Parts: sequence; C-alpha cells; structure tokens
Amino acid sequence: MSDGPASVTVVGLQWGDEGKGKIVDLLSARADVVARFQGGNNAGHTLVVDGEETILHLVPSGALHAKTVCVIGGGVVVDPEALVGEIDALAARGYLTEPGALLVSQEAHVILPFHKAIDRARESARGKGKIGTTGRGIGPAYEDKAARTGLRMADLCDLPHFRATLREAVGEKNSYLSAMLGEEALDVDATCERMAGFAERLAPYVADTSAFLDRALREGRRVLFEGAQGVLLDLDHGTYPFVTSSNTAAGSVCSGAGVAPRWVQRVVGISKAYTTRVGGGPFPTELDGAVGEDLRSRGGEFGATTGRARRCGWLDTVVLAKSVRLCGVDRVALTKLDVLSGLGPLKICTGYRIDGDPTDGVPPLAKDFDRVEPVYEELEGWTESLRDAACLDDLPAAARRYVARIEELLEVPVAILSTGPDRDETMILDEPFGDA
Ligand code: GDP
Ligand code: IMO
Ligand code: MG
Repeated sequence: MSDGPASVTVVGLQWGDEGKGKIVDLLSARADVVARFQGGNNAGHTLVVDGEETILHLVPSGALHAKTVCVIGGGVVVDPEALVGEIDALAARGYLTEPGALLVSQEAHVILPFHKAIDRARESARGKGKIGTTGRGIGPAYEDKAARTGLRMADLCDLPHFRATLREAVGEKNSYLSAMLGEEALDVDATCERMAGFAERLAPYVADTSAFLDRALREGRRVLFEGAQGVLLDLDHGTYPFVTSSNTAAGSVCSGAGVAPRWVQRVVGISKAYTTRVGGGPFPTELDGAVGEDLRSRGGEFGATTGRARRCGWLDTVVLAKSVRLCGVDRVALTKLDVLSGLGPLKICTGYRIDGDPTDGVPPLAKDFDRVEPVYEELEGWTESLRDAACLDDLPAAARRYVARIEELLEVPVAILSTGPDRDETMILDEPFGDA
C-alpha cells in the first residue's frame, strides 16, 4: 500500500463534457474501484484507446480495465433499458464479463418509461425557457425520489412486488401524462412486461455498494469517484434553473456513493482549455461568431449523448474559481489544449462587470447573466500542433504561458494536461494517487 490518498474524486468544473471519461479511464489503471455517485445516462463519457472510441453513459469509465470493479452508487438514477444495452455492448467486446465486475446500488432510483415521456413532453411545452434537457427522464426520476414515490433497484429485485408497484405507478403517471401534458398514456401491460424483463437481467448486479466501498477503502484498495455533468450544472450551486437534477459537486460523493466524508481525500477538477455548454442557460464567454464555430469544429464539440452542437466560448475563470472552491479542488486536469493551436490570440475571462461595475463571483439569478460583461485578458496563441507533445518542454512557450496563467488565476496546479482524445495523449505532471 502506498502513502497516496485512499480515494481520488474526478469532477467536471464547467458545464459538463470536460473530458471526465478520458481522465477517469486513464486513472482507472491505478485504481481498484471506480464509482459513479450521481446523474444518470444524461452523461456521455468518451474513452479513446488506440484510436478506438467507447462512449459510456451509465457504466463507470473504469470499464475497460479488467481488474477495476465498476460501481454505480445510490445517488445515480438508473434507466434499466439503457444499462442493459450498455452492459451487452461492452460484453460483446469482452468487457465486464467477470461476475462482480459491475455492482449497482440497491438504493439507486430507477428511471421508468413515464419519466422519459414526462421529461420530453415538458421540454416541448416549455418554449423559450427550455432547459434543453437530454430527454432521458433524469429530472422526473429525481422528483419521484424526493417525493418518496420512486422505485429503487432493491424493488426491482423482488419481481412480484416490482410488477405490482410499477403497475400502480404507470396508472397514476398516465393520468398526469394525458390530463396535464396532453400526451398519450403508456400501455400498462406492455410497460410492466418490458420492465420486468430488464429487472430479471439486472438483479444479479444489485448490491449494497455503500458497504462494499467502505470495505474496499478500509482494506486499502484505491477508489476513484467519477463525477458526471459539471459543477455549474449542480442543482444547488449551478446556474439554476438551467441545471441538472443532481448535486454534481464533490460533496455529493458522500451521499451519492454512501461513503463517509473522511474517505474523500483528493479532488481532481477537470476543465477544458476553453468553455462549452450544451442546452440552454447563461454562458457569459460564449462566442457566437466565427471563432466559436472554429472552436466547435476543431474541438468536435457535439454532444456524446444527444449529438447536439455544443455552444463554445473562451475560458471563464470566474465560474472555474467557484467550482474549485466548492469542490476543494487540489489538482486541475486541463483538457483539449491542442484544440487552441492555430486559433490566434486567446482570451481568458478573469472577472465580470455588471452595468459597468466589477462584481464578485457569479450572479444568483440566471436572468442577471444577460447583463454580465466578461473582463478579458488576452494571451498570445500558438500555431504548432500539440498532439505529439510528451512533456511540458515539448510545448510552445505560448502554450506553457497559457497553462501557467490558468494555474495562477485558479491558485491550483495543473496536474494532468491532455493534448488529444486518446488515453496516451496525456501528460501526468503530478500523480493523483501519489505514484504510478
Ligand atoms: P465527459 O462528458 O466529460 O466525459 O466529456 P465528453 O466525452 O462528453 O466530451 C469530451 C470530448 O473531447 C470527447 O470527444 C473526447 O474524446 C474529447 N477529448 C478529451 N480530451 C481531449 C483532448 O485533450 N483533446 C482533444 N482534441 N479531444 C479531447
Ligand atoms: P456529461 O457527464 C453536458 C445538461 C443538459 C441540460 C441540463 C439538464 O457528459 O458531462 P438533464 O437531462 O440532466 O435534465 O439536462 O444539463 N446536461 C449535460 N451537459 N454534459 C452532460 O453530462 C450533461 N448532462 C446534462 O444539456 O442543459
Ligand atoms: Mg459528456
């Protein structure tokens, strides 16, 4: 056992899609267990190994490492159909085939077909104030959890009880769907039958993952906690109401994975070298013109879950500083630095003004972001490709200065620098687990 931390938590510091999948896959080689603790299949985490791309939505990004146990914690909402599909696709490629390779918390709430129908119907009724959800039923499933009317993975393991409870729930939600949303009711028998099939498939994976993680940590096994979405999408701390329905900040590891606070020992915050956002909501440094287009095409900025074009803009260190503070980030992983090659002079947002006056932090109301004027600092760009850089010294001086300025502004060292989508296109400047 090394002197390094028992656990490393990886969270996205922006509005999602920072490259969590890539970094978690990379760090999984050093971990015994990788656990998701919140969100659901609204996530799209991309792993590229020797040019082969894998996109994971629910299964933790440790799945490509045979010795790493993957855990879906109780704070996650699980769509049984999506999970079965993902398990099957991975098994066809030889992954997650060993018993015990994947454990799903008995406490995780289940996303049911009516959650998806409600999510989509509400979004299409919303018009201008659309959140732009992924349509995966995430919000409605968390609503039922808070309302204490949800079904959990433990319910799904008791088939007669699951069928009966589900039948009642579908009946009730059908009234809401048709009377309030003008949607077609779901076929009760067909829905129950389909869901019972998925329940049978998933029951063997269901476990007390909180106890499992506690045991693993006590025995000195290394645990990697994998965040989904980004801190600015956190239900409490994000740009409400343009947020997701779970707590994405690092504090949610305790409730979402069911581990005591003392086990959350090191937090790696991931940021792109610029900013993106998919869906509606405030985005002060958004670039609407040619530079934004350029970033989108160079960075391949299209959603891994919905395929939607991501909105692109300059790096915003005001929101990043908030995320760093909230999560206690002690290491930054900076991704997609390669995308900035050849873009010309680069801007970093170092502050906001509202109505001409400097303001502290981030406004509490989404509508006030319309009045935010970012204060920029301009940095020299570089033209060289970074894709083959193996160490900091291989980077052009301007790229090194860009990274150093981010470290200065955030007051946190960049420990991982990513210069391409592949697992190998990464510099680990400071090992998060303490050794390799
Ligand atoms: P996640 O949701 O945080 O896991 O991120 P996504 O997978 O949704 O989006 C990140 C995208 O950027 C994926 O297509 C990755 O393959 C890609 N990517 C990650 N790191 C880098 C990098 O350093 N450079 C480039 N060019 N692409 C990267
Ligand atoms: P990963 O883990 C980027 C966004 C949606 C929408 C809002 C609410 O890949 O970084 P939801 O379906 O959660 O109710 O949608 O949150 N969103 C994401 N944006 N990356 C994600 O996940 C996201 N998950 C949700 O676009 O604006
Ligand atoms: Mg993503």
